[in-house]
Amino acid sequence: MRKKVTVVGGGFVGSTTAQRILDSGIADVVLTDILDGVPAGKALDMLESGPILGSDSHAAGISTGSGDYRETANSDIVVITAGFPRKPGMSRDDLLKANYDVVKAVVENVVKFSPNAILILVTNPLDAMAQAAYKISGFSKNRVIGMAGVLDSARMSTFVAAELGVSVENVHSFVLGGHGDDMVPLARYSTVAGIPLPELLPKETIEAIVTRTRKGGAEIVNLLKTGSAYYAPSAAVVEMVKAILHDKKKILPCAAYLEGEYGVRGLFVGVPVKLGARGIEQIIEIKLTAEEQAALDKSSASVRELVSVLGL
Ligand code: LAC
Repeated sequence: MRKKVTVVGGGFVGSTTAQRILDSGIADVVLTDILDGVPAGKALDMLESGPILGSDSHAAGISTGSGDYRETANSDIVVITAGFPRKPGMSRDDLLKANYDVVKAVVENVVKFSPNAILILVTNPLDAMAQAAYKISGFSKNRVIGMAGVLDSARMSTFVAAELGVSVENVHSFVLGGHGDDMVPLARYSTVAGIPLPELLPKETIEAIVTRTRKGGAEIVNLLKTGSAYYAPSAAVVEMVKAILHDKKKILPCAAYLEGEYGVRGLFVGVPVKLGARGIEQIIEIKLTAEEQAALDKSSASVRELVSVLGL
C-alpha cells in the first residue's frame, strides 16, 4: 500500500509541498484548507499532471472549513503549514498567537483520525508551534518534528556555493537553534567537500554569509511583498518526508524536543537528528565551544520566551 501524507494548508508552502510529493511519487497526498474548493481544485490539477510525469500517486483536496478531517484518516505523516504568513516588517514571532489558534485546532482534529502519524510542523514561529503541537497531540517526542534547519542550512549552502563557485552538492552547512533571527549557523561544522569553512573563506565573508542566512526568510518576504518563501521550504519538508518514509536514518537539522541535550530542557530547538521510520530516532549531540554554546543559549531563550507567552 502506498504511504499517505496529509498536507494541512493549501497556501504556497502547502500546495508546493503536495506537488513535490506527488511528482516524486513517494506517497498519496491529501491537501486540506479551510477554503472551499481551492484544495480540491489544486489537488485535481496536480493529479492530472500524473500521466505526464509518470506518477501514480493519488491526490485529494478537502475543505476542512466545517471541521471535517475524516479524509485525512490514517496518514503516515501530517505536514502542518496552515497559518498566517509574514508580511514585510513582521517578525516570525508577531504571528505567535494567531497561528497558535490555527495549529491547536488542526492538531486536535488530525490526531483523532491519524493517531499513529508523524507530525511535521512548518507554521511559524516554528519552534513554538512544534512545542504547541507536541503538547496538544500528546504524541511521543519522536513523532513531532519542526522543519527549519533543513531550510536554513540550504540557504547557507546556497550562499557558500556561490561564494566559492563550487557545486551545491559539495557543501554541507550546519545550523543550530531556533528558526529566528538569532539562529546559529556553525561555520566550524560546515564543510565543502569535507573541508571546514574557516579553512576556505575569510572570517568577514563567513560572517556575511551567517548574517544573510539568519535573515534569509526576511530577504524573500521583502522581495515578494506578499507572502513568504515556499520553494525552498517545501523542498526541505520533502527531504524530511523522504527520510521518514524510506527509513533512511538521515541526519538532518530539525526542531526537536530536547530534554537536557545541548543544555536545553523541555523545549523545541533546532539540532541534528536522525530521521527514520520512527521519526526522530536519535538526537546527535556535538561539543560546542563556549561562544557557540552562548549563541545557542541565546537562541533557545528566544524560543523559551514565546513558549511561555503561550503557557506551554
Ligand atoms: C522562511 C519562513 C518560512 O524562513 O520562515 O522563509
